[in-house]
Amino acid sequence: MEKIDVIVDSMSRQGTHNIAITLMQTNGEPLPQWEAGAHIDVFLPNKICRQYSLTGNPQQTQFYTLCVKKEPQSRGGSRYIHQQLRVGDTLQISAPRNVFKLQDAERYTLLGAGIGITPILAMTETLEQQRKAFTLFYYVQTKQDVALLHYLSKQFIYGTCEILCDDEGHSIISQLPDAFNVPHQQHHVYMCGPAGFMNYCEEQLTRLGWHESCIYKEAFAPVVVASDAPTDCFQVKLKSTGQVFDVPQDKTIATVLIENDIAVPLSCEMGMCGACLTEVCSGEVDHQDTVQSEQEKQAMPQHIALCCSRAKSSLIEINL
Ligand code: FES
Repeated sequence: MEKIDVIVDSMSRQGTHNIAITLMQTNGEPLPQWEAGAHIDVFLPNKICRQYSLTGNPQQTQFYTLCVKKEPQSRGGSRYIHQQLRVGDTLQISAPRNVFKLQDAERYTLLGAGIGITPILAMTETLEQQRKAFTLFYYVQTKQDVALLHYLSKQFIYGTCEILCDDEGHSIISQLPDAFNVPHQQHHVYMCGPAGFMNYCEEQLTRLGWHESCIYKEAFAPVVVASDAPTDCFQVKLKSTGQVFDVPQDKTIATVLIENDIAVPLSCEMGMCGACLTEVCSGEVDHQDTVQSEQEKQAMPQHIALCCSRAKSSLIEINL
């Protein structure tokens, strides 16, 4: 994976718990183009790699903006950014990847909860540019938690933004957006937030008759996928060389391949980012990732997340 050298150009407080960071390429060149919904890998000096959604205006490539929440349960990424990262530090990042793209529709409902606002905010910029109608609902605990307010408080021409505070009695559970009651093929719902928030929204949309193809979501924390499939040993075969490797119960496909000097594009290692998705030539996949939709998991050819998914069949052949 090609890495890009960047410098931290600015950091700003965004509500009580978040920091916005702008990153510029150290050589002053524009950064790669990106689209709303994209994320990058950030390689931190403490050897941790984390994925963060890009936010702000996707037409802006002189710098990238991220917004990072201070996570009490941080495994090192958020804590490092909040406590140690400073303006002027240099880092490496990946080029943007997008598994949460805006698809063509006539109308959009955007739901952002907490720090899940980051990719959603970039979508409002794109929809304004495309002159598409949208309604944004941004759910926070309290007013003090609102991030990126300077973007959200501007006058949108094609959309509206409503900020809903839990401590004022406004939550997704206390009141669903009215638009949920009118399912329409040309109306898409995009959501990003904690797994519980998104699961609840999805359940309600499904109950009210929305088709799966109209619902798009991005988890920013790993979701534990329950699987009733056996996690027995199986074998993985590489299409390019015909090599076959045993994958024991306690190792992922990625681990086995790396141990055998096979390069695997890895990033989150939690089934969230899509970096390791690889085409399946034959065999049955036990999908454990959360980056693919149910539709994508059923589509042919299938793709397997090598960092977490397993095989239901005794052998699986992959296009590596
Ligand atoms: S490394 Fe991110 S999905 Fe596998």
